[in-house]
Amino acid sequence: MNIPLLLQLREAGGEFVPVESLGASQNRTLADLEELLEFGFSIEQHPYLGAAYRGPATRLCPDQIEHRLGTRRVGRRVAVWNRVGSTNDLAARAAASTANEGLVVLAEEQSAGRGRRGRTWSARAGSSILMSVLLFPVGSLDEPSWLTAMGAVAVSEVVSEWTGRRAAIKWPNDVRVNGRKVAGILVERAAGSVIGIGLNANSTQDDFPADLRETATSLRLLLGSPVDRSELARDLIQSLDAHYDESIREGAEALSAAWRDRSEHLGSLVRITTPTGTIEGRLVDLSLTAGLELREGDGRTVILSARHVHSIVTATELTPP
Ligand code: BTN
Repeated sequence: MNIPLLLQLREAGGEFVPVESLGASQNRTLADLEELLEFGFSIEQHPYLGAAYRGPATRLCPDQIEHRLGTRRVGRRVAVWNRVGSTNDLAARAAASTANEGLVVLAEEQSAGRGRRGRTWSARAGSSILMSVLLFPVGSLDEPSWLTAMGAVAVSEVVSEWTGRRAAIKWPNDVRVNGRKVAGILVERAAGSVIGIGLNANSTQDDFPADLRETATSLRLLLGSPVDRSELARDLIQSLDAHYDESIREGAEALSAAWRDRSEHLGSLVRITTPTGTIEGRLVDLSLTAGLELREGDGRTVILSARHVHSIVTATELTPP
């Protein structure tokens, strides 16, 4: 597909562009426009004025996602499916070969999407980013809590860029805007590690199950208009790759600053659940390698390893005894 042509039209901001200025051969340009229209891009054609961009395709466009992606690992291969059981399963299957490192699996719909703690993850077909990334990390990057943090940092950065609002990470894997969940991360281990991301892109209120309507949101709801999911997937792949690449070069701690900045809990009174019980105090610092620093009521400081923390609840969400 002629993506440079698509981008040229898009950059014209909805104005008509004469066919002569879209390529050397008019016949070729008209055929390429036809292909873009057939795929589902919204392009208006006029016999004299040329062509004008009207909007993205409703389905994910692999060519658009991969065009000049420029990543080192994540997105070296991108597979877009219409309907799958779970994208995490497809990525896990590909883990049989390390040549598949960086594979991104995307789907319009999942029939058996999984969330954390055995929950299901459901999303209307074509409404979301349902993405799994296969990696073969080594050393301290090969830790589910670190990979979850990387997914959450990348998603929250992209959501902030797209909405202009602060997207924060609620431990361990929720990305929220104004306290409403916009995305979740599910890291699973196979022969490699799979980072699964569910990001509510064009979901409407009605798309959420009744019990989640008050607590979930989407980019479309935040912005008031639908978004180009292929562009969103592309940004997410680039953000994941940038963080992964930096951490390979500099170590797991390189992600900590971004992770700390995005934490919903830092500085708050929290209740932390670990395998050995619960502990309350003020969360004074967070580091992916040094752990979580908690100041208890009596002034004592406790350090907890990130991988031993099951859940964190902030004071505003704690129910009084
Ligand atoms: C959660 O918040 O509980 C995590 C949700 C993760 C959902 C994504 S959607 C893509 C990938 N495939 C799955 O089956 N789950 C993850």
